[in-house]
Amino acid sequence: MLAWFRNRYLDLLGSIYIYNEHRGYTALDRVLEAVRARSPDDRVFIARIEKHRDDERKHYLMFRRWFEKRGQMPLYVDRTCGHIDRFVEIMFRTRIDRMDTQAVVASDRLFEKLCRVISLTEKRGYRQVEVLLNHPLVTQDPGLIKIFRVVERDEPDHWAPYDAWLKAHGKREPKWWERAIDTFIHSELLLVKLPILFLHPRLGRRSEWPDAGEGAKPVAAA
Ligand SMILES: [Fe+2]
Ligand SMILES: [Fe+2]
Repeated sequence: MLAWFRNRYLDLLGSIYIYNEHRGYTALDRVLEAVRARSPDDRVFIARIEKHRDDERKHYLMFRRWFEKRGQMPLYVDRTCGHIDRFVEIMFRTRIDRMDTQAVVASDRLFEKLCRVISLTEKRGYRQVEVLLNHPLVTQDPGLIKIFRVVERDEPDHWAPYDAWLKAHGKREPKWWERAIDTFIHSELLLVKLPILFLHPRLGRRSEWPDAGEGAKPVAAA
């Protein structure tokens, strides 16, 4: 029973993570395209977003390898389990894949909002990884611990570019209500969605990897 519980928990945790890592780098590809078009001379900012994008792809591949070693595909979880998906839906009233990234990047008002959303999401991710590194079920899986150590090391570089952009352009930091939305999304995932999915008797597995059809061959993660 305990083994089943542990296995189900890690299975679900890995599935939510692989979804979020994939969502992360694919959404950043669109942000990058728009930033390159708007500010081609802002090379430092572009390079920092590129590093962020590459890290998220690397994280995605680490989770993919973890599932490959288990001999299982991830469980099918959708955008309702994506932190950034929910955040964008609440703040911009649109699904992330329907967001007009060009228009958001072209407007200072919308772009600063997006920078705060990304920064809060990354800081949330860092705090969550700290919790998981000490989680009794996670510590029993050396492969997962190794992945979370890499994520923990990479994460500070992920919010820094957006915080720096906000500061350099004289934009404000997140307000209490933006932090409250972030907390709400996290609690909703942890206290409502996770238990429902955990107990869902017919939660299926993905039939394809999230990056199937993206053209790039998966490479070994560093
Ligand atoms: Fe990540
Ligand atoms: Fe990240």
